[in-house]
Amino acid sequence: MNFTAPNNLNRRSLLTGLVAAPLVLRFGQAHAAVPTLFTQGIASGDHAPDGFVLWTRLASNPLAADGLGGLSAPIETFWEIASDDGFRRIVASGRALATSETAHAVHVEVTGLRPARPYWYRFTAAGERSAVGRAITAPRHDADVDRLRIAVASCSNWERGYFSAYGHMADEVPDLSLFLGDYIYEYSLTPDRADQIVRPYALEEATALAGYRNRYALHRTDPDLQRLHAAAPAIAIWDDHEVHDDYSGIWSKTAGLAPRGFLARRAAAYRAFYEAMPIRRTGGGVSSPLYRKLRFGNLAEFFMLDGRQYRSRQPCVDGVTGGKGKLVTDALCAERLDPARTFLGFDQERWLYDSLAQASARWTLLGQNLVLGGLRIGDGGADTQYWTDTWDGFPAARDRLTRTLAAVRPSNPVVLSGDYHSFWTNDVKRDASDPSSETVATEFVGTSITSGGPPHDALMQVMPYNPQVKYFEGRRRGYMSLDISPKQMTTRYRAISDVRDPKASVATLASWAVESGRAGAVPA
Ligand SMILES: [Fe+2]
Repeated sequence: MNFTAPNNLNRRSLLTGLVAAPLVLRFGQAHAAVPTLFTQGIASGDHAPDGFVLWTRLASNPLAADGLGGLSAPIETFWEIASDDGFRRIVASGRALATSETAHAVHVEVTGLRPARPYWYRFTAAGERSAVGRAITAPRHDADVDRLRIAVASCSNWERGYFSAYGHMADEVPDLSLFLGDYIYEYSLTPDRADQIVRPYALEEATALAGYRNRYALHRTDPDLQRLHAAAPAIAIWDDHEVHDDYSGIWSKTAGLAPRGFLARRAAAYRAFYEAMPIRRTGGGVSSPLYRKLRFGNLAEFFMLDGRQYRSRQPCVDGVTGGKGKLVTDALCAERLDPARTFLGFDQERWLYDSLAQASARWTLLGQNLVLGGLRIGDGGADTQYWTDTWDGFPAARDRLTRTLAAVRPSNPVVLSGDYHSFWTNDVKRDASDPSSETVATEFVGTSITSGGPPHDALMQVMPYNPQVKYFEGRRRGYMSLDISPKQMTTRYRAISDVRDPKASVATLASWAVESGRAGAVPA
């Protein structure tokens, strides 16, 4: 989607977490004063009880026009994992060849480690040593877990501001960081909006592999984002801007551009995403589905969804707007209601419904891109409008999901969403057209790291038609911080002071709690 203080860190939770607070300072500290190869930082992600993915990308000139980071020859890269942050006890090590085939990105899928503990990792290449990062292994699937802290991000537009929100996420030392899409933006603001540019890309719009690679490369030079990736393992999915604004499945929003013309661009974008993210490549890299489940003992299970790749086209596309999301009424657009249309794709739907039926952790977390709770722009009558790029454009698919939640009743379903550049606390109703229907899940929507917010006042005017929305705030940038225990989940909306300030402060705007066994959040 494209829209034209003191922090209250809980010291005790930090100290009783997987890692003690004083060690935080080490994360992201490079050994070389100015890295010449490790300009992109390091990352870990996709935890398992016996390991995780380690990532780095070598680049001597990160923004080289050919997208290859200034390198051509293969470079042997060593990795080490230690059970202590000083690397006195190295428990695993190996080597990987960084080649131009992947723009010298390195993915290591580590196995054989012990569950439920932190590890520290670093890389060495051509005599240069990387910064030190912290990773964690998950607890065994049925292990009792008392607490889990997650920081949730979406929508980091480089042009729009500084990534101080990422820096504050790193400071919280979450067990996991979730990225729910729009990690990059493919476009640049047009000259008539130049006054909104805080820091220019100095790059063309990304439309091919080199351009997408350089978008990620630019982001990964940001010190706050580097620090976050070094401090906390990631779980990442994508939304539209990793490819193109409001694309839907094989359909571009560009008028007259047929899928055959769009798919090469989409494939290049997907390839750059897999190269840039600490995601498992087992099974063939970009041919692996992005949707996946991960678990954190008996406390939480994550269902990470792909809400872009397999979608039907938005309904009632006209020749002018192409596939771009827009407002429609059902009188104008009966196609919106067609049950043959899908949001996740029918294979992913089947996988999700089967997985939800088998879910056995205390908290069932759905990480996905777009607001599920719904937004009626009108009183629900014939004139009511719906925005077609979100789940509201796919009501039959949404209905299949909420019906499944009502039928199989996974434990404490909570939906975590991005895209809308605003904070929302929602009841996810069994029937989106009936506010009095059962609440089948709770939804928290995080705001953007930097991207511009929606028209706050206009949205507030339609909130009386949307009693499922318990909280909405569109004017602030930041992220969500979740503390999860067997009895309760607390979500804090963390807002930064000013997106134009690289040293912006952060404060908690609102806190919401979900009690185990009761769908729907209450003020905490
Ligand atoms: Fe966004």
